Amino acid sequence: MPRLETERLLLRPPEYSDVPAIAALIGDYDVAKNLSSVPHPYGEDDARTFVSRTAEARAKGEGYCFAILRKDDLVFMGCCGLHLKDGRYELGYWLGKPFWNRGYATEAARKLASFAFHDLKAEGVWAGWFHDNPASGRVLEKLGARPDGEVPRASLARGQDVPCHMVTLTREDFGRKKPFDKLRVKEVIPSC
Ligand SMILES: CC(C)(COP(=O)(O)OP(=O)(O)OC[C@H]1O[C@@H](n2cnc3c(N)ncnc32)[C@H](O)[C@@H]1OP(=O)(O)O)[C@@H](O)C(=O)NCCC(=O)NCCS
Repeated sequence: MPRLETERLLLRPPEYSDVPAIAALIGDYDVAKNLSSVPHPYGEDDARTFVSRTAEARAKGEGYCFAILRKDDLVFMGCCGLHLKDGRYELGYWLGKPFWNRGYATEAARKLASFAFHDLKAEGVWAGWFHDNPASGRVLEKLGARPDGEVPRASLARGQDVPCHMVTLTREDFGRKKPFDKLRVKEVIPSC
């Protein structure tokens, strides 16, 4: 299982040493309510089960979950992963609230998509974001994902189904998006 690196992030498999941080950060209802299969309240036993399940899934080739660490100080910030369902990978991610709105989710999800297309040879990945979670919709839009309908999806933390926007990201759309983003950066900083 490779470790993945981006400019600011280190992505590596979750470890038991992450358990207290996982429980503290995903135990926040504002994080859990935007995920489908995370209960609330959420404790360290849940986090330990989560870590062992990610290792099992990885061993079976059914899932690739990564802890998201800040490269500078190796602080645990959240997780992202690809989960094989019916022959297709679902892309997912979450960050603890103190780490929101700094571009970390986009940076992690972009690396994960690249891992899916280049290492796992996936042709496409899918994701879903709840209607009241536009920040996640924006992350997926920045990657190049396209809308693919709306369905009710369970949120364990809310204890009910929530309208969920489904999106698909193809290898082609992801490839097209990256050069565009680089171009935009050049426009903003002409001296680069
Ligand atoms: C969704 C989540 C992963 C976003 O993480 P993040 O690191 O803050 O995301 P980024 O900073 O990379 O990008 C967020 C984008 O959403 C935008 N955004 C933030 N809040 C927004 C809002 N209320 N409405 C619209 N856009 C919003 C930001 O401006 C940014 O877009 P920009 O780069 O064009 O300015 C984070 O909020 C989270 O973990 N939430 C709880 C769990 C979750 O929702 N996981 C995803 C499940 S689908």
